Amino acid sequence: MIQQLNVVPFVSVDHMMKLVHAIGIERMLSDIAGYIEDDFRRWEIFDKTPRIASHSLEGVIELMPTSDGRLYGFKYVNGHPKNMKAGLQTVTAFGLLSDVATGYPVLLSEMTFLTALRTAAMSAVAAKHLAPKNAATMAIIGNGAQSEFQAFAFRAILGIENLRLYDVDPAATEKCARNLARHGFKITRCATAMEAVEGAEIVTTVTADKQYATILTDNMVGAGVHINAVGGDCPGKTEIHRDVLLRSSIFVEYPPQTRIEGDIQQLAPDHPVEELWKVITGAAQGRTDARQITLFDSVGFAIEDFSALRYVYERIREAGTYVDLDLIADPDDPRDLFGMLMRAAPGAAAAA
Ligand SMILES: NC(=O)c1ccc[n+]([C@@H]2O[C@H](COP(=O)([O-])OP(=O)(O)OC[C@H]3O[C@@H](n4cnc5c(N)ncnc54)[C@H](O)[C@@H]3O)[C@@H](O)[C@H]2O)c1
Repeated sequence: MIQQLNVVPFVSVDHMMKLVHAIGIERMLSDIAGYIEDDFRRWEIFDKTPRIASHSLEGVIELMPTSDGRLYGFKYVNGHPKNMKAGLQTVTAFGLLSDVATGYPVLLSEMTFLTALRTAAMSAVAAKHLAPKNAATMAIIGNGAQSEFQAFAFRAILGIENLRLYDVDPAATEKCARNLARHGFKITRCATAMEAVEGAEIVTTVTADKQYATILTDNMVGAGVHINAVGGDCPGKTEIHRDVLLRSSIFVEYPPQTRIEGDIQQLAPDHPVEELWKVITGAAQGRTDARQITLFDSVGFAIEDFSALRYVYERIREAGTYVDLDLIADPDDPRDLFGMLMRAAPGAAAAA
């Protein structure tokens, strides 16, 4: 654990990349998955609220807070599908952890990479409990920024090596295939989403489009498949046809948020869903039958970011991947904030 100081460790993008390389991406994904599972087992003690979203025509900016009573964390994250065509990221993020006892921040971190890692780790945790046991092949529909991270998490946690890739933009599939083939994955490039799902026991949809898109229609989903639906995560932004949802056993993170943002926004507000934390603790069942269609309606919940930040917080000292930020004004006499300011005036030291 890092000692509380008036300087706050800051993990830049460069530091985060160095941390991933120092630990190894698959090990880090497995570790973050472990932290998420640990925190999901403590689900009931966390402060929980649907994230606070500010919507615009182009996208959304969200704040995601939570606390376990000892640490408090939040993430700032955006989702702007049109950004990609302008050469910008669809999703960027940063986040903070603080000490509940004092309210002092203890970590400020980039979270664009960390979001991709935690989203993939979360997906793989869900699939570990829900996917058919013999799963060997995954389709990935949507081959953008998140896609390779999903592939690595599913290999690290479920041993999936065969990938069937599809994106409306063949250049995205080419990029994804190139990035993954170098790391020993067996890749099939597909010309349609229908072709991608052929023979896949797991289907990941991770597209970005600010509309009710239909990436998976009813005829594309056979018995026994696990769907990892990642890209439908905003009001008016979905990926899975309603008929598929109606045939599926649906698992979610935090129902009050998922009912607003997830693919299940297309269903009645009381449509039965199971909370993933209950499956992880054994309080509810995951997959019960080989022919069951399971669907993880992923939207991303604050506790996953908290888990990922907690992990980074515990690793950066050893890895040396941070700088101290002069973020907190902390005068020796706590009541003399003004005196601290005056002592910093030009020439004040000489006058004293
Ligand atoms: N659930 C979560 O926790 C979570 C976390 C992070 C991101 N996301 C969501 O995941 C999605 C992907 O994020 P990203 O950063 O990879 O975005 P990105 O813009 O980098 O990539 C999205 C890809 O989807 C492709 N695409 C769009 N419509 C398609 C369609 N109909 N069929 C096939 N491909 C299509 C695009 O061409 C693009 O290559 C976004 O919607 C984002 O909001 C969810």
